[in-house]
Amino acid sequence: MPLIPMRVMLDHAAENGYGVGAFNVNNMEQIQAIMMAATETNSPVIVQASRGARSYSQDNYLRHLMLAAAELNPQIPIAMHQDHGNSPETCFSAIDQGFTSVMMDGSLEADGKTPATYEYNVDVTKQVVNKAHGLGVTVEAEIGCLGGIEDGHGAGLSGEEAQEHLTDPEEAERFVKDTGCDALAVAIGTSHGAYKFTKKPTGDVLKMDLIADIHRRLPDTHLVMHGSSSVPRELVEIINEFGGGLKESYGVPVEAIQEGIKHGVRKINVDTDNRLAITGAIRKLLAEKPEKFDPRDYMKPAREAMAEVVKARMIAFGQAGWAEKVPVVSLEAMAKRY
Ligand code: G3H
Ligand code: 13P
Ligand code: ZN
Repeated sequence: MPLIPMRVMLDHAAENGYGVGAFNVNNMEQIQAIMMAATETNSPVIVQASRGARSYSQDNYLRHLMLAAAELNPQIPIAMHQDHGNSPETCFSAIDQGFTSVMMDGSLEADGKTPATYEYNVDVTKQVVNKAHGLGVTVEAEIGCLGGIEDGHGAGLSGEEAQEHLTDPEEAERFVKDTGCDALAVAIGTSHGAYKFTKKPTGDVLKMDLIADIHRRLPDTHLVMHGSSSVPRELVEIINEFGGGLKESYGVPVEAIQEGIKHGVRKINVDTDNRLAITGAIRKLLAEKPEKFDPRDYMKPAREAMAEVVKARMIAFGQAGWAEKVPVVSLEAMAKRY
């Protein structure tokens, strides 16, 4: 099966009330882990690459690895997505490289750090929508800014500043009308990375009620939850047991995501949990078998550990079992629908 537009997958998820995990990749093993989990659970998948991932892995390697994933798993619908495009140019270059979906994150300026104005966000998002839809490519946009001061991602907002940049439901409604984006990332109190919350989040820091309000206003827009890793204690413990030094922290509980899925969340971004699984497996193998130096000896358990996390998320989000039911729509056919 060729790579398909993400919109097709999210429409199907909305019709059938499930969510789709979007997992970040930087190398072959991460792509393989996702495909292992997808084939085992019969799930449609979104594979996404950040700007950093694209420069780390190089676009040509990434493109051919994704084509290999599609060739080897013809029964699995796959969307290839640019995560956090910082400018129209980044999104256009992703489209040139065969990505079937792009995120124009105009909530921040092109430096990826400074919160942008509404007008700037609309302007850059519209430029991307105009070009992408003409080619059948899906567009995710973002309104409101994620928090996250410790990990150096995004705006680096403190907890209090992040509260000021939560998505305003009224503005979200206007933004979708002004831009015509397919999917909308919303800021509800989460942040990227391993340090999201200092205790199990309650409704005053993780604002799931905002999701319900936005969904009521925008029933046809697919909502996206970024920063959705759950930071499982057992993964952190493996890392720390074998020489790591991670601080205690809490992520987004899977049950909160499931609640979001009931209220229009269709795409759930997960990267950190997979990073934790990989790092724990590598640390464990090298600590227990210090004589090993063949990368396959530690990359294989690392790949398996990531596949286990992805599999669990696919089941929890409800995408498991749907692979064959997602309609195969080409980019050309999708372009005609817009
Ligand atoms: O946006 C956050 C994702 O986890 C990607 O992270 O920019 O370090 O590749 P990255
Ligand atoms: P996590 O850091 O919570 O995995 O979030 C990833 C993400 O939102 C990528 O865009
Ligand atoms: Zn993100």
